[in-house]
Amino acid sequence: KLTSSLAGVTFANPLLNAAGVHCATPTELDEVLASAAGGVVTKSATLAPRDGNVRPRFQALPLGSINSMGLPNQGFDAYLAYACAHQQAATAPVILSLAGLSLADDLAMLRRVQESDFTGLVELNLSCPNVPGKPQVAYDFAAVTRVLDQAFQFFTKRLGIKLPPYLDLAQFDALAAILNRYPLAYVNAINSLGNGLVIDPLTERPVIRPKGGFGGIGGAYVKPTALANVRAWRQRLNPTIGIIGTGGVRTGTDVFEHLLCGADLVQVGTALATEGPAIFARLTRELTAVMATKGYQTLADFRGKLQVR
Ligand code: DHB
Repeated sequence: KLTSSLAGVTFANPLLNAAGVHCATPTELDEVLASAAGGVVTKSATLAPRDGNVRPRFQALPLGSINSMGLPNQGFDAYLAYACAHQQAATAPVILSLAGLSLADDLAMLRRVQESDFTGLVELNLSCPNVPGKPQVAYDFAAVTRVLDQAFQFFTKRLGIKLPPYLDLAQFDALAAILNRYPLAYVNAINSLGNGLVIDPLTERPVIRPKGGFGGIGGAYVKPTALANVRAWRQRLNPTIGIIGTGGVRTGTDVFEHLLCGADLVQVGTALATEGPAIFARLTRELTAVMATKGYQTLADFRGKLQVR
């Protein structure tokens, strides 16, 4: 039994796509919903549609990926419409991801969601590393405080946030003290490890074009960082705040490790980009096998129960 719930929303299993991967068009979203995934997250929306950065802007690598997509998306209206249309009939919940280019845009989209019929989970992405000239909100704790203060003035639906990796424990302490003041539904850790540089030594060029080759790193490169962030948040956040674990998930064992660190749901980015939505059937099968070997019947049997020595 793989069911899991987050902020009162029940998922048949804990697996979803990571925002940005296989979720930009209705067709891609339908394909995730038709797969063995427990739910789907929509591509982070901006108020207006965007083409994104120049290509090549994604490259799969032996141990993961680098991307600088630049928020190509069909615009807020398209994703809100999709989320509303699929919230009744859906066998799996839809999470609506939002990434405004400014505080005003974030608040404008949240107001529209508040006024809409959508009752599901909303994920405010505070960690896009790839829009030239736009620093990541989540590395500026005063900016995080501003957006959450203003959002919770009017937003009464279920709101989670997507965070980037943090690398110093003092950052978790400081940000947890802020986040614990708000009725957050969940924290999603981690977004890509921002602004890496991957070079092809033959051509002596970066493997992606935008931003001089700088881009967000995902996959196996970031798995230890992702697990540490999930664990660090679970140790510090109010128990009412759920956690989505994202980063370096390619096998059922990777899913198991995120759950051990305290994740309620687990998202798949780079490996979904490489393997396609069929990965969700493989991961559920592999996770079920890991649990059977260990004699675990439900996720609650081991969630958050990392054995520390
Ligand atoms: C993009 C990348 C991200 O990591 C993110 O959180 C949002 C958008 C992008 O480049 O499109």
